[in-house]
Amino acid sequence: MKIMIINGPNLNLLGKREPDIYGNRSFDEFLQKLRHDFTQMEIDYYQSNIEGELIDKLQEVGFSYDGIVLNAGAYTHTSIALLDCIRSLTTPVVEVHISNVHAREEFRHKSMISSACLGVIAGFGLNSYKLAIEAVAG
Ligand code: DQA
Repeated sequence: MKIMIINGPNLNLLGKREPDIYGNRSFDEFLQKLRHDFTQMEIDYYQSNIEGELIDKLQEVGFSYDGIVLNAGAYTHTSIALLDCIRSLTTPVVEVHISNVHAREEFRHKSMISSACLGVIAGFGLNSYKLAIEAVAG
């Protein structure tokens, strides 16, 4: 199985960014553990702070991969362009959030992309990504 994990804006700062909310582990370190836990899968990774680059990557992998795990960061709450993109793909996309967005500010309660996703996993720290891979693997 080929899985693509895509992280959006500011998620390159994981480990340094608001550690009380997002933890103090870097994503690269976590990714090594994920690959170790799911040796039977090919797990690719992409991060960008730029909305159009996220769309380019989704279009590139979204017709051939078996699953996409997407943490769109703040674009989750704003991006109709990401919504339209996800709707166009054949590969299922799982929406992921490290924090429990529903326990935070009200502007984080609304997701523009959830309706196009297979499901949403939020609030389990970096473990949210692991749960999403399990979900997409069936
Ligand atoms: C986030 C939640 C978003 O509201 C925020 O803008 C992020 C990270 C999360 O993983 O908890 O950048 O997607």
